[in-house]
Amino acid sequence: MTENFPQLSSFDEPSLDAAFATLAEEVRTADTTDIEAFRLHWLGRKQGRLKLISEAWLKSAPPEAKKALGIRFNQLKQQIEAALEAPAPSTTRTARAEQGIDITLPGTVRAPGIPHPLLKTMHEIVSVFHHLGYSTNLGPQVESDFYNFEALNFPPNHPARDTQDTLLIAAQQSRPSRDRLLMRTHTSPVQIRTMIAQAPPIRIVIPGKVHRNDAADATHSPIFHQVEGLCVGPNITFSDLKGTLDHAMKALFGSDVRTRFFPSFFPFTEPSADVQISCIFCGGKGCRKCKHSGWIELLGCGMVDPAVFAAVTEERRKINPADDAYNPEKITGFAFGMGVERIAMVQHGISDIGHFYSGDMRFLEQFAS
Ligand code: DAH
Repeated sequence: MTENFPQLSSFDEPSLDAAFATLAEEVRTADTTDIEAFRLHWLGRKQGRLKLISEAWLKSAPPEAKKALGIRFNQLKQQIEAALEAPAPSTTRTARAEQGIDITLPGTVRAPGIPHPLLKTMHEIVSVFHHLGYSTNLGPQVESDFYNFEALNFPPNHPARDTQDTLLIAAQQSRPSRDRLLMRTHTSPVQIRTMIAQAPPIRIVIPGKVHRNDAADATHSPIFHQVEGLCVGPNITFSDLKGTLDHAMKALFGSDVRTRFFPSFFPFTEPSADVQISCIFCGGKGCRKCKHSGWIELLGCGMVDPAVFAAVTEERRKINPADDAYNPEKITGFAFGMGVERIAMVQHGISDIGHFYSGDMRFLEQFAS
């Protein structure tokens, strides 16, 4: 067993130095590709060379040489341990090259994900209002007739309901009409949910998915997205509405755009208006995109109808009969609602809504910035 380690003939320091220098050189030039074999060769508990050295030399050393021998023994051990911790040579440049792996070739590129263009636009809209002190509220997509229609002043059988081709949840006939479930046709029901839960002042934006029984074409999709807004408090006027939306349109489309408000109708606002912006493609001169009018219609808005406050008050009084938080003599409000797809299509000059849902990477990648 000790034949590899002939007894040292002399234990003086030069002899020790020479003996350990040979061993150090052996460690330095050892092949460490198989790191476990290297470890066993030197540190193996039974046959490891350190063990053999210790048996052959340390034990037989005269007492006065033990210290000098021990120091050199420990240095050798540290050298072995350092070699074990060094990165395996197979990961080095030369070894890779030897294995025929060209490390100068580009690696696998993993494209980072990006927000979908619709989400990006939705976040942009919401963030314009966050900067004005609005907070975000969300609501369910499966909604009851009460929140989606009745409380918003769409009476049962009112023709205005026909404008919102509603997808009804099946087997609801046995329920009272206000409790019947449907897919929400707009984000406006969250206005009602918020006002029932919370007294004024209110400044909220409501982003979300809405559903209509619409056939898909270049500008319609049965599922689309809206951002709703509601501002309620003392002394909220139509001027506040105009100033807020004018600012929002400039923030979204550039400070050059002008806005104008056209009379319109929504059951839950009075007066109601459609907001148009000067055509961002031709600057208002008239082009194909704006049908030569110079204006693009973007959203609906208006002053909250007192009938809506009345419906909210009726609900709040079920909890507190004295509630008067939404007394239209004391508070007023404005609301607005916009289609996210419509805004994104104008922002990016997209003419077919279907691109948003196609999952076509050639379309989506254009929004990576
Ligand atoms: N809910 C309307 C729609 O889906 C959009 C809308 C118009 C919302 C005017 C409003 C508003 O809050 O004031 O057609």
